[in-house]
Amino acid sequence: MSWTNPLRDPADRRLPRVAGPCGLVLFGVTGDLSRKKLMPAVYDLANRGLLPPGFSLVGFARRDWADQDFAQIVHDSVKEHARTEFREEVWQQLLEGIRFVPGNFDDPAAFDTLRRTIEELDETRGTDGNHAFYLAIPPGFFGDVVTQLERHGLAEAKEGSWRRVVVEKPFGHDLASARELDEVLAGVFSEDSVFRIDHYLGKETVQSILAIRFANAMFEPLWNANYVDHVQITMAEDVGIGGRAGYYDGIGAARDVIQNHLLQLMALVAMEEPTAFDAHSLRQEKQKLLSSIVLPRRLDLTTARGQYAAGWAGGEKVAGFLEEEGIRRTSRTETFAAITLHVANRRWAGVPFYLRTGKRLGRRVTEVAVVLKRAPHQPFSAASTEELGQNAIVIRVQPDEGMTVRFGSKVPGTAMEIRDVNMDFVYGGSFTETSPEAYERLILDVLLGEPPLFPRSEEVELSWQILDPVLAAWERKGKPEPYPAGTWGPESAEKMLARDGRTWRRP
Ligand code: BG6
Repeated sequence: MSWTNPLRDPADRRLPRVAGPCGLVLFGVTGDLSRKKLMPAVYDLANRGLLPPGFSLVGFARRDWADQDFAQIVHDSVKEHARTEFREEVWQQLLEGIRFVPGNFDDPAAFDTLRRTIEELDETRGTDGNHAFYLAIPPGFFGDVVTQLERHGLAEAKEGSWRRVVVEKPFGHDLASARELDEVLAGVFSEDSVFRIDHYLGKETVQSILAIRFANAMFEPLWNANYVDHVQITMAEDVGIGGRAGYYDGIGAARDVIQNHLLQLMALVAMEEPTAFDAHSLRQEKQKLLSSIVLPRRLDLTTARGQYAAGWAGGEKVAGFLEEEGIRRTSRTETFAAITLHVANRRWAGVPFYLRTGKRLGRRVTEVAVVLKRAPHQPFSAASTEELGQNAIVIRVQPDEGMTVRFGSKVPGTAMEIRDVNMDFVYGGSFTETSPEAYERLILDVLLGEPPLFPRSEEVELSWQILDPVLAAWERKGKPEPYPAGTWGPESAEKMLARDGRTWRRP
C-alpha cells in the first residue's frame, strides 16, 4: 500500500476546504429560509475560516433598504440562529462585504445596479468576478430573475472566473412545470453551473448512508430481497405549517417532502455502489435507481393522504390545518402523505419501500428502517419467541443522529425466552465534532463548485414522474382524511400497511 502525504493529495477529503475569492447574491432575503438558515450558514462558514477574507454578500429584495439596514437583518438572524458562537471580529469582516440592492425581480434598473455593485466588489474586495446567485424565491420568479441576469451580462463569467445559480425547491409543481423550469435555466446557465438544493443531502447522517453501506463488510450482504422484508422511510414533524401558509397551501406534503427529500433518501438507500465517490458516478447510480422505481397498480390501497385536525402538540392544544392563518377553509392540501414504491430490479424484487411524511405528528423524527425477514428456521418453541420481532437496521437521520440495530437476545433467567434488544450507535457519543448544518455544507460546495450533493435535472424530473400519477389519483379522490394533531396520521395509512401484514414503526 502506498502512503500519500495528505497535504499534497488533492483527493484527500479530510482537508478543510476553503472557498477561493467569491461572493454570494441572495434573492429572497426577507423569507424564513434566508433568515433562519442561509444567513446564519454564511456566518458559520466565515467563523470556521472557510470563506475567503474578501467574501461579499449581496441582498436583493423589494425593500427600501440601505446596506446598513440589510446588514442589521443579517446581524439579527446570525445572533438568533447561527450554530457557532458570535465573534465580533468575524462579524466585522463579513460586514465590510455586505451590500443591498433594492428592486423587483423584473426591474432592469435594479439589475443594472446589481451589476455595478458586483463590479465594485470585484475591485474593492477582490471577488474576482466569481459570484453565485441564490434563488431563495418562489419558482414563479425564477424566469424573471435569470432573464434579467442574462440581459445584464451577469450570468456570463469572464475568462478564469465563474458564475453559478442555486435554486431552492419546489422545483416545479409536476413533471411538465419542472421541465419548463429546466428549460429556462438551461437557456442561461450551463448544467454544471446550476446547483439544485435538496438540503437533506447536506445532512451528515444522510451522507453517512453511503459510508455505512459501502465502507463496511457487514451490511451490504444483507441489503437485498433475500434478507430485507421491507423498508420504511419516515420524515415526521411535530410542528404545523407555522407562518408558511402562502407556500404550503396548494403544495402539500408529497410535493414538499416526498418528491425531493424522501426520494433522494430512497435513492441512496437502494442504489448500487458507485464506481467512485464523485458527482458523475453518484448521480448516475441515483438516477438509475429512480428510473427503476415503479408504483403499485392500486394507488387507492397503497397510498394515504391526510390533513391535521385540531389536537395536541407538546402538551398544548393546537388548531387544525383549516383553522391556520392564511389557509383556505376549503383547502384540500394534504399535510400527511404515505406511498408504497417498488424497485424493478433483481436486488429489490418484491421488497416494498414505504415512504411517509407529515406535519403535526407525534414527534419530530427522520429515519430509514431496513426491516429484515425472519430467520428461516427457529429451533425455539413458539412461546420462547413470542416477543421476538423482526431484525432491523435503522439509520436515525435526526434529531437523535445515529444508528440502531435491533435483534433478538435471550432474556436473563432459567427459561429460554427471546426478546428484541437494540444496539445503538450515537454520533454524539463517538465523535467530538458537532455536525455542521446542511446549508453550511451545501453553500460551501456551491462556492467551491463541487456538485456531488446536488441532484441534477434528470433526477428531479424522474421524481416528478414517479409522483405525478399519485397526485392525479388524489386529485380525483377529493378531500384528504383528517387526523388529530399529535397522532401518527390518518387511519388509511395504518390500513395501507395492515393489508400487507405489516405495521409502521412508532419511532
Ligand atoms: C423543508 C420543507 O424542505 O424541510 C419543510 O419545505 C420542512 O416543510 C423542512 O419543515 C424540514 O427540514 P429539517 O431539516 O428540519 O428536517
